[in-house]
Amino acid sequence: MADGLGVAVIGAGMAGRAHAAAYRTASALYSPVLPPVRLVFIGDVNAEFGSLAARRFGYERNDTSWQAIAAADDIDVVSVVIANSLHREVVEGLLAAGKHVLCEKPLSDTLDDARAMADTARSAASVAKVGFTFRRTPGIAYIRDLVRSGELGKVLHFSGRYWTDYGSSPSAPMSWRFKGNPGSGALADVGSHLAYVAEFLCGDITSINGGRLSTVIQERPLPLGHVMGHDHVAVSDKFEAVENDDYAAFSAEFDSGVGGLEVSRVAAGHANSLIFEVFCENGAARFDQRRPSEINLFLNTGQATENGYRQVILGPGHPYLSGGLAMDAPSVGFGQNDAFAYQARAFLEEVAGIDEADSLPRCATFDEGVHNMELLAAVAESAANGGASVVIPAQK
Ligand SMILES: NC(=O)c1ccc[n+]([C@@H]2O[C@H](COP(=O)([O-])OP(=O)(O)OC[C@H]3O[C@@H](n4cnc5c(N)ncnc54)[C@H](O)[C@@H]3O)[C@@H](O)[C@H]2O)c1
Repeated sequence: MADGLGVAVIGAGMAGRAHAAAYRTASALYSPVLPPVRLVFIGDVNAEFGSLAARRFGYERNDTSWQAIAAADDIDVVSVVIANSLHREVVEGLLAAGKHVLCEKPLSDTLDDARAMADTARSAASVAKVGFTFRRTPGIAYIRDLVRSGELGKVLHFSGRYWTDYGSSPSAPMSWRFKGNPGSGALADVGSHLAYVAEFLCGDITSINGGRLSTVIQERPLPLGHVMGHDHVAVSDKFEAVENDDYAAFSAEFDSGVGGLEVSRVAAGHANSLIFEVFCENGAARFDQRRPSEINLFLNTGQATENGYRQVILGPGHPYLSGGLAMDAPSVGFGQNDAFAYQARAFLEEVAGIDEADSLPRCATFDEGVHNMELLAAVAESAANGGASVVIPAQK
């Protein structure tokens, strides 16, 4: 770290590019307390993806092997942004090499691997965190503040859904997202985010019931080229079975309050719809990822004629935004890519040992990543047992 922080990203796919761009922006957010950030390395088994991303985002070099990153002396910080089933080997290899690791959600594809990763992280000398990006969304953080300050007050009921449509066409190609154990489909992919946001706002989930997993498109054509993210590439006439869920739903009991959560990858027309409402003792709030620069807020004045939401436009004065935008002015907007930049900034500050009081909240720990996966496993267990109730172990 002598001459700043050297950064690498493993995986130059859909989210890997967001991480690569985020490290570029991170040092330009807020006043410049960070050491210089050096954009060093993009690692991707697909040499073309790696090379294109390195050039596009200004990284010095690229390679097809993550081991080259583990072995490089000029790299301090690594984002791991590859398929969930590959996280464990790469993360453990990087931690053994002394790198600071920001691993994408969900922590892994199996609970056993996630627990082993958390054990490794606990004994590692470096920082290991999970990228629950929505924690960095100003609207969501603001609603959390309103709950915690008592303005909205105790949560009574959370209703959330994360609908996507990347699997809604039967000709959408087979990819790693459609393979794995029950619960490793839409539930792990976007349900991990929704469950994290639900607990971020409402406190710990203590039990779930009514778990339901459904696969509505049973097989998918094999792609003729590389599938990046949710891309629809040309496909062959050969098909493989879909192994996991297109749709998942469950009910949750929180420390206080109840919730209903529903996720889908076959919700045609909803490419990226994380939408929730949180109903509290003193009112309610609503967030819609398609309009991330605003929330809807209802504060109960006791007058029946004043029922209903009003629009609150986010800007300086709301979490992360004040002093954190190049043009620091009201109504300039905010998007999901910005959340990756705030996340990168918080992670780099933690690695640099910048005093917590002066910095953003920390990223989620691997133990939180394990808890999130325990929730997902509980939904799969409930679904396998006719919707039975499953108790969630208390968070470490
Ligand atoms: N936080 C978010 O909002 C968000 C959004 C999308 C994806 N994700 C997460 O990011 C991860 C990656 O998802 P994605 O959509 O970017 O996937 P993707 O399929 O678009 O990209 C994965 C990339 O990894 C590369 N790769 C495969 N094996 C590799 C290896 N051994 N070493 C190096 N590179 C390898 C592939 O060539 C590909 O370019 C997943 O864990 C996913 O859950 C998070």
